[in-house]
Amino acid sequence: MSTQVAKLNVRISRKTEEAQDICMLELASLDGAALPGFSAGSHVDVFLPNGLVRQYSLCNHPQETDRYQIAVLRCEDSRGGSAAVHELLKEGDTLSISAPRNNFALQHEARKHLLLAGGIGITPLLSMAERLNTLGADFEMHYAARSEQRMAFVRRIRDSAYASHVRFYCDDDKAAGELKLSEVLAAHDAGTHLYVCGPGGFMNAVLEKARELGWSEDCLHREFFTVDAPQVQDGDQAFEVQLASTGQRVQIPVGVSIIHALEKVGVEIPYSCEQGVCGTCLTRVLEGTPDHRDVYLTEAEQACNDQFTPCCSRSRSARLVLDL
Ligand code: FES
Repeated sequence: MSTQVAKLNVRISRKTEEAQDICMLELASLDGAALPGFSAGSHVDVFLPNGLVRQYSLCNHPQETDRYQIAVLRCEDSRGGSAAVHELLKEGDTLSISAPRNNFALQHEARKHLLLAGGIGITPLLSMAERLNTLGADFEMHYAARSEQRMAFVRRIRDSAYASHVRFYCDDDKAAGELKLSEVLAAHDAGTHLYVCGPGGFMNAVLEKARELGWSEDCLHREFFTVDAPQVQDGDQAFEVQLASTGQRVQIPVGVSIIHALEKVGVEIPYSCEQGVCGTCLTRVLEGTPDHRDVYLTEAEQACNDQFTPCCSRSRSARLVLDL
């Protein structure tokens, strides 16, 4: 669990079934005061009763100050996070969360915004669509899912003032048509920014196609929530981490994260997701070459090798010197 992320206590004011296997939670302050503001694309860390910490996007309009809305898909291969939200949390409960953070902000200089949602990836994009509509910005959203029963917020989107900006695609509804990435991505000019969120396979397909079609990396924005890559990989080796401030050296065995190995010797790095998603543990690297296993840093940032996420990343060199 995170050691230094500041917590905010909220009440679950509403919990509903939003779609098949997706529940929606509304969170309000305990005393009715306004919640900290947020921008479209923000997420909060949720500290679950079973000790896990998970990140969920805020999906309501960012100008609302009386509530946060999150929606959570029950994952079949859940490590316990989504199951806890579905089974343990109920209306009226008090819950600890972090203040909102944004790693997926709208780029307001864009001439146009293209939002691509796969399944539960609709959550941050919904907040973005609300915001863009309020601003009168030029945008379109494409929302794909396995079936309409599994699509959250369909009614809300269809009833919204921006419904005409949105196209829906369901694998089981051929009449709705298929999301043809080549066509959607080819139809936009250099002033368009792309935002994608959804399952890893969907996101990788979108980003690969966009790169193939010549989109600039600066115009591609993504928010990953889960990482499919296993934590331990074939060929993993032990290595050494050295703390720049004291010179202390710590062995990192195979199967043990840097975060946990350092914790054992009393060196605490704040962390949250332990999946390379949230960026809470980001640490500067002064010497050595990290083996980046996160989805938080862009490829260009990873290539600099001057920072990494020690919750999940390892080392390509025998030793890493960290700015700790
Ligand atoms: Fe989330 Fe490391 S704790 S990226």
